[in-house]
Amino acid sequence: MKRLVITIDGPGGSGKSTLARALAERLSYVYLDTGAIYRVVALASQEASRGWCDQGSVADVARDIVARKRLRFERDTDGTQRVVLDDHDVSAAIRTPEMSAGASTVSAFPAVRQELLQLQRDLGADGGVVVEGRDTGTVVFPNADVKFFMHASPEERARRRFEELRAKKMRVTFEDTLRELNERDKRDTERQAAPLVRAHDAVDIDTTNVSIEQVLQMLAERVEARSRG
Ligand code: DC
Repeated sequence: MKRLVITIDGPGGSGKSTLARALAERLSYVYLDTGAIYRVVALASQEASRGWCDQGSVADVARDIVARKRLRFERDTDGTQRVVLDDHDVSAAIRTPEMSAGASTVSAFPAVRQELLQLQRDLGADGGVVVEGRDTGTVVFPNADVKFFMHASPEERARRRFEELRAKKMRVTFEDTLRELNERDKRDTERQAAPLVRAHDAVDIDTTNVSIEQVLQMLAERVEARSRG
């Protein structure tokens, strides 16, 4: 069967990460988390004391990460994915609310996006991949075989994010989580460069009141229909 390129875009908390991972697992495909790449750039910029304000400076960091192959995705035997920067596991460090804001800020710079575009295309070049992000069906893989766009109400997305953070023992309030999510949505959808928008040929899925299993089944059926031609 043809090994497809599948894209899943949507805002934070829409369920796209969980579903992209589960779908990749079910199909024995590679899971590519493009948001992690922007998070790594935010972290590396901060570590290099360059901050997130200057486009040229952040783009230099992004270029250096790509050119010197400083970023790796590794898979544990239990299927967990690790994000490795300069041989350090940064999987947890890139998931803080601070790095969520940092990734959203640096990803608004066109020069930064440009530096990371080819890397994302190379990572999915062989097919057999589920790519997750904001612009994967519109910009990174406009010719993807199957595209999904997920969303859910802001309150439901904030609730999911809040529970995720609490499970990691982070001290956050629901109100702060909702506010940060709304700010991030605004930045991600209103930016000039590759804003979060549904591709015209993406399947629209509202995950607000649907279980992960139900959505997964729906995605798998679409993909199977497509791979049969
Ligand atoms: O999916 P995530 O929360 O890990 O993404 C972090 C930020 O990265 C998000 O706020 C916007 C940016 N991003 C992007 O601009 N394009 C992508 N394809 C993926 C993420």
